Amino acid sequence: MPTPKEHGKPKMPFARVNGTMLFYREAGEGPLAVFIHGFPLDHSVWLDQLEGLAHVRRCVTLDLRGFGKSDATTDRILPMEMLADDVAGLIEALGAHGADVVGLSMGGYVALALWELRPTLVRSLTLIDTRAAADTPEGQAKRDEMIDRLLDKGRTGLADEMLGALLGPNPSVQVQARLRSMIEGTRYETLVAAILGMRDRADRSSLLRSIDVPALVIGGVEDALIPPEVVAAMAEEIPGARKSMIPGAGHLPPLERPDKVNEALIELFEGRKVVWWRSGPT
Ligand code: MLT
Repeated sequence: MPTPKEHGKPKMPFARVNGTMLFYREAGEGPLAVFIHGFPLDHSVWLDQLEGLAHVRRCVTLDLRGFGKSDATTDRILPMEMLADDVAGLIEALGAHGADVVGLSMGGYVALALWELRPTLVRSLTLIDTRAAADTPEGQAKRDEMIDRLLDKGRTGLADEMLGALLGPNPSVQVQARLRSMIEGTRYETLVAAILGMRDRADRSSLLRSIDVPALVIGGVEDALIPPEVVAAMAEEIPGARKSMIPGAGHLPPLERPDKVNEALIELFEGRKVVWWRSGPT
């Protein structure tokens, strides 16, 4: 059957997946790369990647279920497995058999769940400022407190609280403004359901050893939320993983240092060796 594009009509940037409408945005041609945002963000955290990587990949960034321009959700909780299943459905809806999967923080939790549930869809895996371990009991209690504060102080209060925690020192006003727009633009019910989904997520530490596709781990050196040591240690667990620790970035390197993130992704996609690999014995 001819697609809307073949009829000369613009393609609508929505896909019906698992009974919900997901918004996505794309740029470029070639093998598919899918970018999964973190919390409490949306697809626009990847705008610099759409622009900077369109010459090497068909780059697709989505709004996860309930986020951004995707359908609102009545799910009480958004488990990482459910979000991963949506990403799998989107990859298939886009007509691809697999994708280079890039996940930022909560998007990394989703990417790891995707690796566990549908590994054949993952051509390469990039994990940015994320962790494989589950929340500790203290971490879980903090999630509950965060929900209370959110409902009490609102999204502006959440943004006030999170801006400093998510960004490295001296962020530009543009970066601060983009981040505030994303946080304040996310629906309350989505914020709550995603916090609960992260609180109850599974421990996938033992999965790291099973990753046998090209992998890249990126960390912001100034990340105050997930310490760079934790991110770097994750790279050691993944066989042959590349690692890029980025100075001048906090928890959100794609927003804060897009140049460095794009450079590392191009090296991964093109299979070039990164500098730290060359430093060993020849
Ligand atoms: C994120 O950036 O996606 C979240 O802050 C991660 C988390 O809270 O565990």
